[in-house]
Amino acid sequence: MSAGDLEKFRQAGRIASAARDHGAALVKPGARLRDVLEAVEAEIGRLGGEPAFPAQSSRNHIAAHYCPSPEDETRYEAGDLVKLDVGVHVDGFVADTATTIDLGPGRNGRLREAAEAALSSAIATAAPGVSTSEIGGAIAAAIRAHGYRPIGNLTGHGVGRWQIHCAPAIPNVPDRSRERLKEGMVVAIEPFATDGVGTVEERGKPEVFRLAGRPKRRDGVDEEVLEAIERIGGLPFARRSLRGFAREAVEASLVALAKAGVLVRYPPLCEAEGKRVAQAEHTIYLGPGGVEVLTR
Ligand code: CO
Repeated sequence: MSAGDLEKFRQAGRIASAARDHGAALVKPGARLRDVLEAVEAEIGRLGGEPAFPAQSSRNHIAAHYCPSPEDETRYEAGDLVKLDVGVHVDGFVADTATTIDLGPGRNGRLREAAEAALSSAIATAAPGVSTSEIGGAIAAAIRAHGYRPIGNLTGHGVGRWQIHCAPAIPNVPDRSRERLKEGMVVAIEPFATDGVGTVEERGKPEVFRLAGRPKRRDGVDEEVLEAIERIGGLPFARRSLRGFAREAVEASLVALAKAGVLVRYPPLCEAEGKRVAQAEHTIYLGPGGVEVLTR
């Protein structure tokens, strides 16, 4: 990787870290999710980055991918276990980070600690030559030591230029993969801990989308909406990302793009038993001098 590219990853990491902390401080009972996420995205822009995906905040049994629609009035409540997931890119170079905020009371705090401990253990284990399965082993052991289960069907991932998910997958449990970390890789590690069964399922209405190619058939697609989506560069977007357009044009375009087979939809991911989930995530660079946490 060139020094210039690495510097852009580092800058994306610093911005993601600052925007995550800015948003986490706003998560309070009574605050509207949408307002917090818009504040996170505004902070990303103020610091010179762009969202690599719409900021997301999933509560309680929802592990990931909850993103409010423009009309969603949902507010945080006392007792919520809140995830805040933030992605930033600088000239396409992506950093991804997440944290959990405990609006207690109850045992949520320990679930949050389990996810944090798993992330620390994974980072301490990561090095060129280490298998991704060993990282999963470190994550699972730390979470089980806290008395909880890792979510086995969610993984961390490589990040790249204009890519929020690329190889290698970083499992949250040991698997049989022979894949090994290599010097120069930039990867996001994201353990999820739960007091449930340890799997998630897609449930509910998707609010996060990605354009996966150029539509061959364009009937029903609003040209201006499509242009705006194409400018996002193949990264995920939400209805909130298309605020400037008439709602009917957006809805018709989403339906038409789905029909044309080029729209990927990401519905909320819910713990299978409806139990609570905590998450922690950092993006790391496997440099010649060791592991560098880009989103600390
Ligand atoms: Co991620």
